[in-house]
Amino acid sequence: MTVPVLSIDGPSGVGKGTLAAWLAAHLGWHLLDSGALYRLTALAIQNQRVPLDDELAVAEAAAGLDVVFAPDAATGLQTVFLNQVDVTDAIRTETIGNAASRVAALPTVRAALLDRQRAFRRSPGLVADGRDIGTVVFPDALVKLFLTASAGARAKRRYNQLMIKKNGANLADIEREITERDQRDANRATAPLRPAADAFTLDTTTLTIDQVRERALELLTISLQSID
Ligand code: DC
Repeated sequence: MTVPVLSIDGPSGVGKGTLAAWLAAHLGWHLLDSGALYRLTALAIQNQRVPLDDELAVAEAAAGLDVVFAPDAATGLQTVFLNQVDVTDAIRTETIGNAASRVAALPTVRAALLDRQRAFRRSPGLVADGRDIGTVVFPDALVKLFLTASAGARAKRRYNQLMIKKNGANLADIEREITERDQRDANRATAPLRPAADAFTLDTTTLTIDQVRERALELLTISLQSID
């Protein structure tokens, strides 16, 4: 039997990562945070001083990433190591997020990361989140979720997170950056952000985290029963 995959795609700040980590811990499945691979590539080229427009060198950096994901079994949240250095927080900055979105528009970089992503598919199952998981990486995923929320709602969530961490933030700037990233991710030629034809789209603008979890589990349970 093929190992089941639950894919969660959607725009920046929609809560894919939080949902994916929770589901993986809840189900005891593996987790792929594909965005982290693009963020790690952005950090690696920054460290190696490779310019963003040198596509071949960026793709080489992506292919050569020495990365370890160490998940916490209880929360599903992962510590990320690049060259044995803990970069969990370093890859979450807005600067690296924006660089990741640029790196991710390069077709050779996407190709370099494809097999690495597919290798995460191991028994008993995989929860994977990103932009092209249901369309390109795992087109045969058992359940495909596509999360959406208004740019305003996503900016507000991000703003609240930054406030909790006591980092200064400006709501209008965050919303503008989110919208810019959405446009870049959705309009690139290779593997643009869009729902797979067989994806369930869930607008989370007015939903609580618990409601989103419940809906995702419901869809997965129905699909797992159908293959039993
Ligand atoms: O989900 P994230 O914010 O960590 O992703 C960072 C960037 O990586 C995002 O702007 C687009 C890109 N990305 C992608 O192109 N394809 C994926 N499967 C995941 C992320």
